[in-house]
Amino acid sequence: MPIQTTSKIWHNGNLIPWEDATLHVMSHVVHYGSSVFEGIRCYGQPSGSAVFRLPEHMQRLLDSAKIYRMELPFTLEELCAGVVDVIEANGVTPCYIRPIALRGYGEIGVSPKGSPVEVYIANFPWGKYIQGHGGADVCISSWSRMAPNTLPSLAKAGANYMNSQLIHMEAEVNGYQEGIALDVNGLVSEGSGENVFIVRNGVLYTPPLANSALSGITRDSVLTIARHLGMAVTEQALPRELLYIADEVFFTGTAAEVSPIRSIDRIVIGDGKPGEITKTIADEFYGIANGLKPDRFGWLTPVKVTANEPVGV
Ligand SMILES: Cc1ncc(COP(=O)(O)O)c(C=O)c1O
Repeated sequence: MPIQTTSKIWHNGNLIPWEDATLHVMSHVVHYGSSVFEGIRCYGQPSGSAVFRLPEHMQRLLDSAKIYRMELPFTLEELCAGVVDVIEANGVTPCYIRPIALRGYGEIGVSPKGSPVEVYIANFPWGKYIQGHGGADVCISSWSRMAPNTLPSLAKAGANYMNSQLIHMEAEVNGYQEGIALDVNGLVSEGSGENVFIVRNGVLYTPPLANSALSGITRDSVLTIARHLGMAVTEQALPRELLYIADEVFFTGTAAEVSPIRSIDRIVIGDGKPGEITKTIADEFYGIANGLKPDRFGWLTPVKVTANEPVGV
């Protein structure tokens, strides 16, 4: 999916032309992976558009930066305003938003202290991430997720996505749409860019964050929705084989949204169709995101741009 360009990118508080948002090859981030970033979606509403869980995403960006001792010269409110400004300047919704804070051009040593922190926010159209009607065919990766106390999985850092690339490429070359990684102890962790949920005997399970999973905002949204709907929900360590015998399995993520999984390692999940609990949760999730159901959890930040696609797409 080539990037569809828009007109402006927010850079350190100013809107600059898309083509001017460039970096020098000797920037610290290019050599050492020193970036933290976010992925956010803005959805069309019956009137205007709205960013989904904007403060939560920007707080995670600040948290990721804190873990890496990266001082961002912007408050949560300023970063959120930057997202709204760039979307309104570009006039493009629905869209995906990519804020990134990185160590720029300064010194070549590993220490990042002498390299300036730069913050950018871009937005552009981006459709479905996990393709396929009726669910994705995925595999268990031969690559593990990062071990605890190596690369911190609670930081959404660019460097972590070298591990994600290994997981995703292996899945693709073997004919799967995505890979699920185990943690270093062989317990279910997450997809290369998604959290994982299992339904068995009417109970919704997802691995706890201690299994090297990112603290997904969509994961939190699904847990909140499920509890609100009165479902039994548990965050607990999951052995690999529980995936194979689950009634339903689905991914969650900003890019993936709520994506049913049809098979894992060619073992068909349930009856091979999206299950009832997955459908109920997805219906509520998309209903809230698209403004078709009440924003009962206060998840939407309005943006004054009319969506280019009909609501609900
Ligand atoms: C590794 C990984 N896990 C989980 C997720 C899901 O997180 P969220 O729902 O906040 O997008 C993502 C996407 O950001 C991810 O890259």
